[in-house]
Amino acid sequence: MIKPYGSEILTPLYVKEESRRKILLDEAEKIPSVVISSAAAANAVMLGGGYFNPLRGYMNLVDVLSVAERMQMYSGLLWPTPVINLLKVDLVSEEIKSAGKITLRDPNIEGNPVIAIQSVDNIETISKEQIRIVSEQIYGTSSFEHPGVAEFVDSGDTLISGPIEVLNYSYFSTDFPDTFKTAVEIRNEIKERGWESVVAFQTRNPMHRAHEELCRMAQKELNADGILVHMLLGKLKKGDIPADVRNASIRKMVELYFPENTVMIAGYGFDMLYAGPREAVLHAIFRQNSGCSHLIVGRDHAGVGDYYGAFDSQTIFDRLPDGVLQIEIFRGDHTVWCHKCEKVMMMRDCPHGKEDYLLLSGTRVREILAKGKNLPPEFSRPEVAEILSEYYQTL
Ligand code: ADX
Repeated sequence: MIKPYGSEILTPLYVKEESRRKILLDEAEKIPSVVISSAAAANAVMLGGGYFNPLRGYMNLVDVLSVAERMQMYSGLLWPTPVINLLKVDLVSEEIKSAGKITLRDPNIEGNPVIAIQSVDNIETISKEQIRIVSEQIYGTSSFEHPGVAEFVDSGDTLISGPIEVLNYSYFSTDFPDTFKTAVEIRNEIKERGWESVVAFQTRNPMHRAHEELCRMAQKELNADGILVHMLLGKLKKGDIPADVRNASIRKMVELYFPENTVMIAGYGFDMLYAGPREAVLHAIFRQNSGCSHLIVGRDHAGVGDYYGAFDSQTIFDRLPDGVLQIEIFRGDHTVWCHKCEKVMMMRDCPHGKEDYLLLSGTRVREILAKGKNLPPEFSRPEVAEILSEYYQTL
């Protein structure tokens, strides 16, 4: 099986051992505490589950600037996006400033329960100019119109860096008990299924026909033993479809249209960054950690608006040092409905031309549904369309 990224074995930061948990939970009530941002909580969940192996906690300013500029941490480890605990300065009390360890509280659950304990290595200010530069380098823009930039800028200007021990998986394990899985669990399940080659499909959408066929084509071309449909369960921009509805649609589609035991469905607890190419590299890292041999990267992967070129999320992999990632990328071309072939095709495999194509996209699907119209079969399986229209009727 493929090795984890950056280490021989996966070292998740979730504390499993009961006696250690008890010590930490007692300690958590005695040391200074702070309610962190949703993005920082999602980072903790990802670190806890082994997805962000081999990181041990939140980055300091030197690493943030280095990751943004060179896609490498100060140590030289390739890493595409900052993994940070960024807070508004007024939340960082004198007590926190002088503490060696602090309790991180979950912003997304009532009562703000403990999510992790952090050893404080450093407390640093990131300047407005540094935030602008980092935004440009990570998101390709510093415009507040970009949802990832807006979230980053809104979080504050105080970075608390240092290793963490994670104590729970926030709302992900309770709201999505059958779908939320850690990288460790996915690795184990792949082993149990006896799969060697596994192609991962990243998605933040209910799966429409282009998504479904991309999975099928990739599995066939790669001769993969299985497909991991790996959906994002965290926060999205306004207008995107909520995780429970996506989960139900995906499960229905897989149940009806894929042979049994060829697809594993799982979700991960992270808020969408919309960082396009940089996020694609992050996606590859955490699928390698989950034991997948390939990741599908199609058109405008992890994109939003017109901030990235359609295939920037593929070409970024050409610039990575050879051999740094073991996982390989399956490059998906524009996937369209071809009226002449009467099926979904990747443009590169289809002899017909633009006039024969219906362009398929999640954005288009959402537009049709928002107008209260029925989704045509070229876009969506009827059973999926039904789940989606029911949801849109509740809006
Ligand atoms: S993403 O933000 O998670 O990438 P989405 O769920 O829409 O968004 O896409 C999942 C994957 O399918 C991505 O790799 C994306 O590039 C690919 N994809 C979606 N629609 C198409 C399409 N029509 N043609 C080619 N690739 C597509």
